Amino acid sequence: MAATSKPRRDRDPADIDDLAGLRAAAADCTRCGLYRDATRTVCGAGPAGASAMFVGEQPGDREDLAGEPFVGPAGKLLDRALRDAGIPRDEVYLTNAVKHFKFEQRGKRRIHQRPSVDEIRACRPWLDAELRLVRPNVLVTLGATAARALLGASFRVTRHRGEVLDWEDGLPLVPTVHPSSVLRTPGDGRSEAFDALVADLESVAGALRRHAPS
Ligand code: URA
Repeated sequence: MAATSKPRRDRDPADIDDLAGLRAAAADCTRCGLYRDATRTVCGAGPAGASAMFVGEQPGDREDLAGEPFVGPAGKLLDRALRDAGIPRDEVYLTNAVKHFKFEQRGKRRIHQRPSVDEIRACRPWLDAELRLVRPNVLVTLGATAARALLGASFRVTRHRGEVLDWEDGLPLVPTVHPSSVLRTPGDGRSEAFDALVADLESVAGALRRHAPS
C-alpha cells in the first residue's frame, strides 16, 4: 500500500527543518480563526543564518496581498531606520508574532485589528520554528504585541526600549517601538520619533558587533 503523507496543516512546526518547508506548512495553518478572512499566511523573509531577527505584530493590508512582511509604509520606514543605524538589510530576517492579517472590513477598507492573546499564542510555534531555523545572534521586538509575545504581558516597551536584555538561552533581545507608531506621530514629533527608533537600532548594531561569531 502506498505511504500516505501527513496533510501539511497537521505538521508540527517543531518537526520542520528548513524555511521553505516552514512556509509551505504554514500556508495551510488553521491554528486560529484568522486564516478565514486573511488572503494568505505571511511568514518571515530573509536568509536562514541572518544575524538579526526582527519580530513585528502581524502583516498589514499590503503584506497580506503581497505575501511578504514589511513591504508597506511601516516596512519602508524600517528600511530607512536600518540603513541609518548601519544594519545591512541582507543580515536581517523580518517576521511577525502573528502570521495572518486581522482586520475589520469598513466599506472598501480593511482596518487593522490587534491580535488577541489566544491568536498570538496559537501562532507562537511558527515563531519558535523560525527562531530555531534562523538562529539569529540578536532578536528585536517591534512594538507591544511582539514584546508581550516574547517577554510576557506585563512588559513595557516604553520603559525598556533600546536596552539589550538577556532572553532565553542568553540570546540578546532589544525591544523597540513599532515603525507604524513613528508614522502615526503627528507633525514635528515625527522626526524625533524616527531618530529615537534609529538610536534603538544603533543599540542593536552594537549588540550585533559584540555577539558576532568569531
Ligand atoms: N506591521 C507589522 O507588524 N508587520 C508587517 O509585516 C507590516 C506591518
